[in-house]
Amino acid sequence: MKILRTKKEVDLELRLLQNKQISVGLVPTMGALHEGHLDLVRNAKESSGVVLVSIFVNPTQFNNSEDFEKYPHTLDKDLELLDKIKTDYVFVPNIQVIYPHKPKVSMRFEGLDDILEGEFRPGHFNGVGIVVLKLLNIVKPQKAYFGQKDLQQVAIIKQLVADLSMDVEIVTLPTVREKSGLAMSSRNLRLSPEEKESALVLFRSLIFARDELLKGKDWFGIRTEVTDRFKSQGVELEYFEFVNTNTLEKLVKIESAVPSSVCTAAYVGQVRLIDNMPVQED
Ligand code: PAJ
Repeated sequence: MKILRTKKEVDLELRLLQNKQISVGLVPTMGALHEGHLDLVRNAKESSGVVLVSIFVNPTQFNNSEDFEKYPHTLDKDLELLDKIKTDYVFVPNIQVIYPHKPKVSMRFEGLDDILEGEFRPGHFNGVGIVVLKLLNIVKPQKAYFGQKDLQQVAIIKQLVADLSMDVEIVTLPTVREKSGLAMSSRNLRLSPEEKESALVLFRSLIFARDELLKGKDWFGIRTEVTDRFKSQGVELEYFEFVNTNTLEKLVKIESAVPSSVCTAAYVGQVRLIDNMPVQED
């Protein structure tokens, strides 16, 4: 496994491969790796010639400086995990490599970035859009792999790539969960054992909502029930919505041929968690 730190190092390594028609798969991450990330890497290894994992905790996507400061850093362990699953390259840029200057460009994603996460994390998707575009431009992969865990991020990145006519395929993979159902997340490292138990309300409510929707129950009734469940667990709910998985438009019932998901965000203690569940697949 080779560790690359600069744009030049990436260029030297990957251009040679691409000249030989060996395809490159990019898995962008912010480190503190878990099975969710490793699943993306394993899938990338199967469908790309070589895999490059980037690890960069991107400051511009954190709207809350405390969240950024508390974001877990476990680089040595990350590199060990990636080496074990035979990752080809890890790109670990420092801040100057990605942001030699503060970008003057800003990104808006009409109708996609001011709802759900965007409503509660203003500026978040501007930061995500810029860093993902930078990584795609530096690595120039044929495929880039993202988790459906961040459903809105996926919708926004697909839009970015389509709007800018970029030659990269965005591959998405289902959410990896702990045995309990809790979606794996780097932020779970900050949960106490009791908080981890309370956090299960997210997964259980999503399953409940999906099953009720599939039975044809009324969405607003479902949401009221779910809101009570969060309250009784002492978990502060930010949103619980039923949306079109691709356009993120709010839905109130299952519509034929419309892929849909329920999605939620909540604070368990000081830790903000998100999760979602497909209701009707593509
Ligand atoms: P990060 O939260 O580290 O996630 C990196 C990738 O792993 C994302 O595509 C995310 O959706 C995926 N992922 C996280 N948890 C997962 C799980 N439980 N199951 C499956 N996939 C999971 O998302 C980011 O970083 C950043 O926004 C980034 C795209 C790297 C830009 O900075």
